[in-house]
Amino acid sequence: MQKINKFILSFTISIIDYLYRGRHFQRFWVLEEIARAPYFAFLSVLHLRESLGLRGPEHIYLMEEHFAQTINETEHLEYMESRSGNSYWIDRFFARHLVLVYYWINVFYYWVAPISAYHLSYEIEIHAADTYAKYLWFNDWNDEDIWRIMNDEIQHFQELHKAMELIK
Ligand SMILES: [Fe+2]
Ligand SMILES: [Fe+2]
Repeated sequence: MQKINKFILSFTISIIDYLYRGRHFQRFWVLEEIARAPYFAFLSVLHLRESLGLRGPEHIYLMEEHFAQTINETEHLEYMESRSGNSYWIDRFFARHLVLVYYWINVFYYWVAPISAYHLSYEIEIHAADTYAKYLWFNDWNDEDIWRIMNDEIQHFQELHKAMELIK
């Protein structure tokens, strides 16, 4: 399953990278819009499981983590908006349709295979940190806000790794 995750991810990312070449903040905005969806999906499934009496010992911890991650990703999204990442209709149209599909994929995936769903997001967060590191590299490491966001993405993949270990 992890190999399929990696294949789907690199295929999707290469399409987005191609479509958004040279348009950094539009690409970052699209990626941040998508990056939030899994955390909403995880929370939705955890709430549903709780309602069905399927609450596990790690439930509260995971809900708190995923809620904090959604807030943090929303802050990233707002920052990209402040840098005009969502100025064009076509980018908003593309990202908002993609996120609808991606949210439901994550709901289903997390319900049937939570570790694999975490692994997909783990890979996405690694890609996000790498994307921001490349941007900083090409801009002389000279953007404090992107540094902060890159460090948040590093924290996200570490948290997802911990979540995977917890529910193994
Ligand atoms: Fe982010
Ligand atoms: Fe993230």
